[in-house]
Amino acid sequence: MCGIVAYIGSQQAMPLLLEGLKRLEYRGYDSAGMAVTNEQGQLQITKCQGRVSVLEERLGQGAGLPGTSGIAHTRWATHGRPSDTNAHPHRDDESERGSGIALVHNGIIENYASLRTWLEERGHTFTSETDTEVLVMLISELFDPANGIDLEKAVQAALREVTGAYAIAVVCEHEPDVLVCARKGSPLMIGIGQGEYIVASDPSAIIAHTGQAFALEDYQVARLTRTAFRTSTLDNVCVSPKILNLELELQEIELGEYPHYMLKEIFEQPRSLRNTLRGRLDTIEGRVVLGGLSDFIPNLVRAGRIIMLGQGTALHAAMIGEYLIEDLAKIPTEVEYASEFRYRNPIIEDRTVVIAISQSGETADTIAALQEAKDRGAITLGAVNVVGSSISRMTDAGVYLRVGPEIGVASTKAFLGQVMVLTLISLFIGRRRFLSAETVSQYLRHLETVPDLIERVLEQSDAIRETTARYVDRENWLFLGRGTNYPVAMEGALKLKEISYIHAEGMPAAEMKHGPIALINDGMPAVFVATRNSQYDKVISNMHEVRARGGRIIAVATEGDQDITAHADDTFYVPDLPEALQPLLTTVPLQLMAYHAAVLRGHDVDKPRNLAKSVTVE
Ligand code: F6R
Repeated sequence: MCGIVAYIGSQQAMPLLLEGLKRLEYRGYDSAGMAVTNEQGQLQITKCQGRVSVLEERLGQGAGLPGTSGIAHTRWATHGRPSDTNAHPHRDDESERGSGIALVHNGIIENYASLRTWLEERGHTFTSETDTEVLVMLISELFDPANGIDLEKAVQAALREVTGAYAIAVVCEHEPDVLVCARKGSPLMIGIGQGEYIVASDPSAIIAHTGQAFALEDYQVARLTRTAFRTSTLDNVCVSPKILNLELELQEIELGEYPHYMLKEIFEQPRSLRNTLRGRLDTIEGRVVLGGLSDFIPNLVRAGRIIMLGQGTALHAAMIGEYLIEDLAKIPTEVEYASEFRYRNPIIEDRTVVIAISQSGETADTIAALQEAKDRGAITLGAVNVVGSSISRMTDAGVYLRVGPEIGVASTKAFLGQVMVLTLISLFIGRRRFLSAETVSQYLRHLETVPDLIERVLEQSDAIRETTARYVDRENWLFLGRGTNYPVAMEGALKLKEISYIHAEGMPAAEMKHGPIALINDGMPAVFVATRNSQYDKVISNMHEVRARGGRIIAVATEGDQDITAHADDTFYVPDLPEALQPLLTTVPLQLMAYHAAVLRGHDVDKPRNLAKSVTVE
């Protein structure tokens, strides 16, 4: 959801900023732009509607933008449609009112309308439809070096007036050797190099340059020169950031032999889940080792209720978690869209534990709901992928997914990581409540085999593509399952719609009869997750209901189940596992179907229409 890169140092900024934008393009790709300060201290801005490649082409046509400091942006539109004018950077008035300030922004300025009116009354002229332009004008209005209000102080003062979310990077012609950044609600990280700093929305744009970095906290401002940095609050009180060592490898964020990040990440799942499990399974003692939860064991064991919050794919993982926690740990559990939880006056009782599920750890709705839960006294846990992200810092404790950076906009390996972590949490609590060591050991032995079993499912990728090709021109699909396979069906439908733009609905198989069955017409694909489990026979009955109305059945079934071929037109097989663990396998064929469908329809899988990774606005 918008990517920011900024640089100050001794190297030419333009190629470095472009490289950073390419790494961050998954965060938004409707327009791109950059501002570089030249040797004379003047700002040179190039920006355009379209992908980073369009910007690159435009920059290549002239002499480029020489200079050793600058800011850059790749946009996912919120206020104002994608256009050259609405692209970032934005600068203050070109007239003599202007102070030569340019800014890039990720987030939303909620009170932009009233600020804009105030600024217009003071003679500022706006050229774009964005909320961001209001912020740069406000900084410009407050900038008053003659009275000691330099760029840093002007930024602090402007942000004290703003409500909403922001990560910003700002440069100014009057202070050509200074770069100012700030954040509230949207992530921003500052990489520390030798005589240089590189600022970015996430570490992937930093690690090629340095492994040392710090994350700005909410309401913090950083002033960077080539040799030093200073971090402060909006009230100009100095704060010391915690310096981190980024542990990413460059290869983790490169495509390698794969045509798309999504396919790479689907195929990475055996390796990423081995990482999720590493050091956490004690099969001999029948224990799950989750160091991150150790201080909260009494709270978890005595929990009266667990509430899980997330959005999109993370919510589907939470829905599977609900089955698991109730089944294995026997604690009443609810799942709720974070966006709804926050606004409905939720009841948090004494022993309520809230778990936030998130790949990025930066989803605005999930953060806001978590804050609400904290304010009402809940113990909060995170199941998060990005280390050091906002949710990981806000929660009392948590378990990292450890699946590595997820760059494909459609979440795949993070989903299985979330399901795996929730399985571990369920067993962790369950063992301390009712589950015997022997029972937990058995589950753990099964979990150990999951990465290898996924490899077997991945071998069917070509067959899944061939089958998908037969249905890919159909515009409406159903995804159906029962028990833990119901959220898998929801996830299968979400994957298909977000990258292939096919309308798909996922639901409990039984629910179909209560209305959606009216949709079924001749040849409509219905994907059934129909593994051998306690509800198998019921799922087969639901297949008959679809078939009787002309629907075509694609089944995900258990290896060795020959009976299913009598009921399904096409079948993909997954190895057998206990019912509670089946989603770790049944999800994979649906991910591959969605991927192949999108490619067959000619879509850009990693940059789906209207979407961007990490939704940092509510
Ligand atoms: C779908 C997808 C989204 C995210 C959702 C939450 O493929 O990626 O639905 O799951 O935006 O994001 P996180 O997990 O980062 O909180």
